[in-house]
Amino acid sequence: IHRGGTILLTARSQEFMTAEGFNQAIKMLEHKGVEGLVVIGGNGSFKGASKLHENGIKVVGVPATIDNDIPCTDYTIGFDTAVNTVVDAINKLRDTATSHERVFLVEVMGRDSGQIALKAGIAGGAESILIPEFESDYDEVSDKILRGRERGKLHSIILVAEGVGGAMNVSKEIKLRTGLDTRVTILGHIQRGGTPTAFDRMLASRFGSKAVELLLEGQSNQMIGMENNHIVAHEIEYALAQNKVIDEEVYKLANILSI
Ligand code: F6P
Repeated sequence: IHRGGTILLTARSQEFMTAEGFNQAIKMLEHKGVEGLVVIGGNGSFKGASKLHENGIKVVGVPATIDNDIPCTDYTIGFDTAVNTVVDAINKLRDTATSHERVFLVEVMGRDSGQIALKAGIAGGAESILIPEFESDYDEVSDKILRGRERGKLHSIILVAEGVGGAMNVSKEIKLRTGLDTRVTILGHIQRGGTPTAFDRMLASRFGSKAVELLLEGQSNQMIGMENNHIVAHEIEYALAQNKVIDEEVYKLANILSI
């Protein structure tokens, strides 16, 4: 329960994508007498799970990705731990940002989603948060930094979701407009490991329990989720066809708090 990452040592499998690999997986599951499979992962894993279901294997999906980009669940396993890792990094970076009066651009993961950047940015007190769901306005970001300087603010932390196109590029744009000393930190894979937070442990426990319950009932092709603190289940295809939207209120809050 205290270990991070994929302790089953499962990872993206190119072989499973091929017809031979897929057929071998079916054969192996039948050979081992597997009566039900709990698939822990994201979009790609669930597409595979759905295919297994079509081929007579009972499957239940448990959403686990730091990106929190899966619809029909408020949270995915790993997201909270990643957010806390980022907040911890921001706290450390702020020390140099303040002493050296620099602008720090912190690039975080999330693939095409800005969920990690938004939550960690608010919790870490970032001055600006750039996410792919909303257009980035470098003039506005730069003006905000300069206004802060006039008021005596020594540091600026800008969170950049990887989906925006790279903190290096953003850094150039900000430097060009402000003339200030900028530094880029790409947090990378440290966000994908480490001991899970209590929140993630609770979530995984509740998801796991529900997955087993559904399989015991003989159900299949379901994805577990948590909506408004209730554990729910939806058909995998239905869940994947929905949109995971960023809460606009939360995005607005980020701008209000970081004047
Ligand atoms: O989906 C999780 C994730 O960590 C993304 O945030 C990131 O874009 C990607 O995986 C990194 O993948 P890889 O480890 O293959 O570079």
